[in-house]
Amino acid sequence: MSMYSRIAATGSALPETRVTNAELATRLAARGVETNDEWIRTRTGIEARRFCDPEKGETTTSLAARAGAQALERAGFDPATIDLIIVATTTPDMVFPSTAAHVQSMLGCAGCAAFDVQAVCAGFIYALNAADAMLRAGPYRRALVIGAETMSRVIDFDDRSTCVLFGDGAGAVALEASDAPGILAARMYADGRYDENVLGLTACLSGGAVKGSPFLNMDGRMVFKLAVEGLTGSAEEVAKLAGVSPSEVKLFVPHQANLRIMTMVARKLGIPDDVMVKTVSEHGNTSAASVPLALDAAVTAGRVKDGDLVLLQAVGAGMAWGSAILRWRTAP
Ligand code: ACO
Repeated sequence: MSMYSRIAATGSALPETRVTNAELATRLAARGVETNDEWIRTRTGIEARRFCDPEKGETTTSLAARAGAQALERAGFDPATIDLIIVATTTPDMVFPSTAAHVQSMLGCAGCAAFDVQAVCAGFIYALNAADAMLRAGPYRRALVIGAETMSRVIDFDDRSTCVLFGDGAGAVALEASDAPGILAARMYADGRYDENVLGLTACLSGGAVKGSPFLNMDGRMVFKLAVEGLTGSAEEVAKLAGVSPSEVKLFVPHQANLRIMTMVARKLGIPDDVMVKTVSEHGNTSAASVPLALDAAVTAGRVKDGDLVLLQAVGAGMAWGSAILRWRTAP
């Protein structure tokens, strides 16, 4: 048994195609859907997003494998030493086998545990919390935790209130058991009373047909309110468990759904704006990929150093949400 797990390295993968708000507005206008850059930017902070092109072989699995391979390489982990792969996704390429099983085969880690986590936008925090608990309990020593999504497949381009918000991508962390901190505390929460009427995608396969809607639907105002409450409360809870104050956080990596939500939560927690990572402008909301993508952007930009307190958090359909707080360690 180890006392902690620590993030040894991060990785990310984005589709090639970048679509600005203005380009999206032009595409939508051709369908009779009216929007504009100003509305999207001022309501959400989003300026552009990436969309997969299946003709280029860009899928949830391929993005997940690219991000995972980069994290392994940066950590210096031989794929054969990985004991566990967890992929958080709400847009798997197929119902089964799991995305994690495909990623395992692509990365050359055959034999290790591999499974998917479905907690929509909160998925990465759920997967990280699960992997951390499994590494601390043993016998697992090394894990790859990935968030990967192709939201472009499930957004209704005739619904301007949702289609401007999402993007595709993947982020990953290589985790290892460690006697020094590490992840100090992580918690996940859900309240199923706020069901698919608040945020959902109701399609299912039945009798050879798709039943329900194949597109995401959202009550934006309700999600906004629940997001601020859940994110603020869960951050306070993990900070308390870790014996630290949110104001000590040196890198704040919130779910990148809406800059207004992020700013409001940071203000409530007393976290200065300059320690908050803001990739929503370039990525849009990439659901389970949002937090690891934002973390990777901050790490590669040199924004975090040894010993820094880092707060990660996400919220999504379920409703499900959670936070994790950790000490950044550049060595075991
Ligand atoms: N372009 C132009 N106008 C628009 C657009 C658009 N793309 N979308 C909506 N509007 C209009 C509406 O029709 C409405 O017009 P009206 O006043 O004439 O009726 C007006 O803008 C205001 O609409 P609201 O929905 O009230 O806008 P709001 O300020 O609440 O912003 C938003 C909407 C951005 C969706 C916000 O509510 C939000 O971010 N909610 C949270 C989303 C989120 O965090 N999701 C994360 C989880 S996602 C997951 O788990 C998969």
